[in-house]
Amino acid sequence: MRSKKVGAVVLAGGKGERMHSTVQKQYLILNGKPLIVHSLEAFEHSPVHEVVLVTGAGEEEHVRREILQPYALHKVVAVTEGGRERYHSVYAGLKALQGCDYVLIHDGARPLVTEEIICRAIRGAIEYDACVVGMPVKDTIKVADDSAYAVSTPDRSHLWQIQTPQAFSYSLVRRAYDQIMSDESLQTGITDDAMVVESQTGYKVKLLEGSYENLKVTTPEDLVVAEILLGKRKQK
Ligand code: CTP
Ligand code: MG
Repeated sequence: MRSKKVGAVVLAGGKGERMHSTVQKQYLILNGKPLIVHSLEAFEHSPVHEVVLVTGAGEEEHVRREILQPYALHKVVAVTEGGRERYHSVYAGLKALQGCDYVLIHDGARPLVTEEIICRAIRGAIEYDACVVGMPVKDTIKVADDSAYAVSTPDRSHLWQIQTPQAFSYSLVRRAYDQIMSDESLQTGITDDAMVVESQTGYKVKLLEGSYENLKVTTPEDLVVAEILLGKRKQK
């Protein structure tokens, strides 16, 4: 792990529309700190060498002053402006990372990521070149038609809900992203990085265990759960 350079792209360039709050969700205070700080601190305390933080347009100064300096997040080497869709933001982050052999891509909106999960993702990237963390789904999943009638029920034992970090050999994921960014017809329905790598390179992506606690704060009730889980950790 030591001789290879590992970078991370932490995404905080979204608008948080489903949260319906006046302050963007990444800056909401969660257990006394902005949500994004919890995510960045996990990387700060991990073996990752460098972090690029992707934010919304015009937020760089605010983020340096209110987030990076006060919380001493020294591993953040660049703050870069994201784009309209998540994959635009990922691409901006990948281009801002310099000289990394491996890269972890993480949703800043997952503040419960741990050093242990990050280490597992790093080891996975080294072993498999492409891996994502996730968990087996607990609910039955149905495929629906356009009128919300159930069409089929995939075998649950083969279904995982996918989280981040998603971790790759840098050259592999960069090539995949270069390809989709050069052709708009390849840009429909992209919801994670693994699918970009799968579709553009044919590489098989390994699924590794994340944690049911590693939730993405998306809607207001997620904030309640995240606060409880973070509070529980503090007591330990
Ligand atoms: N993200 C980003 N750039 C975008 C869209 C999303 O950097 N153009 C980031 C978000 O900040 C978040 C992660 O990608 O950390 C996952 O996205 P999501 O949970 O969908 O966040 P938002 O897009 O901000 O929320 P919403 O979809 O409700 O607007
Ligand atoms: Mg979104």
